[in-house]
Amino acid sequence: MDGIELLPDDYQKYDLPFKIVIIGDSGTGKSCFSSKGIKNIFEEAYSATVGFECFTFNIRINEKVIKLQIWDTCGQDIYRSLITNFERNSSLAIIVYSIDGKSSFKHIEYWLTELKSQNPDIKIFLVGNKSDLEEYRKVSKDEGENFVKENKLDIFFETSAKSDYNVQKVFIKSAKLLYSQYIESQNEIKKKEEKEEKEEKEEKEEKEEKEEEDSEEKEDEENDLNIEEYKKGKCSLNEHKENDAINFCRE
Ligand code: GTP
Repeated sequence: MDGIELLPDDYQKYDLPFKIVIIGDSGTGKSCFSSKGIKNIFEEAYSATVGFECFTFNIRINEKVIKLQIWDTCGQDIYRSLITNFERNSSLAIIVYSIDGKSSFKHIEYWLTELKSQNPDIKIFLVGNKSDLEEYRKVSKDEGENFVKENKLDIFFETSAKSDYNVQKVFIKSAKLLYSQYIESQNEIKKKEEKEEKEEKEEKEEKEEKEEEDSEEKEDEENDLNIEEYKKGKCSLNEHKENDAINFCRE
């Protein structure tokens, strides 16, 4: 891919760190999805995540090293209060359901509401995992796509941690989106600074112009006054002003 380089997960130097939280029902394959996308490992045997696990995904985009700190959370309700912390502190969330059953798909609404109550501005990806289980499919691709459209989420992917389909792509897309969001915010800051600088300059110029006008007005008033005084013989003027006054008197 252009301008993109995947880096080892222990790569130490980075420019931009971002946090990502992975949520969804228990057993949808969140942990397998994370370990496949990051370490290229797939565990067939299910072992429930205790609380959370943390992964790192490093990628270089346009000369900037982006470090994604990925929080794979446990789908069980008892850990809910722990998960809210990750939801609040993340820039992007990946909600995972599995395509081979309706219940985890129906439950996305719950995850979405919870997530938005913690972090209304968070970017959200929807992932329908276990796409290799085509013969057991209960949720169509259209249903996933429509949910994303209707709820204005950022992107939809079907993935398979087992057959390594689209998994790494989700993390690359996440990094790209967060990077472009960062660039946009930098551009906005730059634009705002330039606007403020321009306004300051205009204000300064206006002030200087006004000062100049005031000083010219004052000088004119002084001249008028001196001429009056001179005519009355009460004061002397400098040579320049004297000539002016003489001409004035002649008129
Ligand atoms: P919790 O930790 O309880 O929240 O579960 P989880 O969502 O992390 O699920 P986990 O990754 O542990 O996977 C649950 C089961 O689904 C395991 O037996 C995995 O082998 C299986 N699994 C995960 N991803 C896939 C996939 O893409 N295809 C298939 N066929 N099975 C998968």
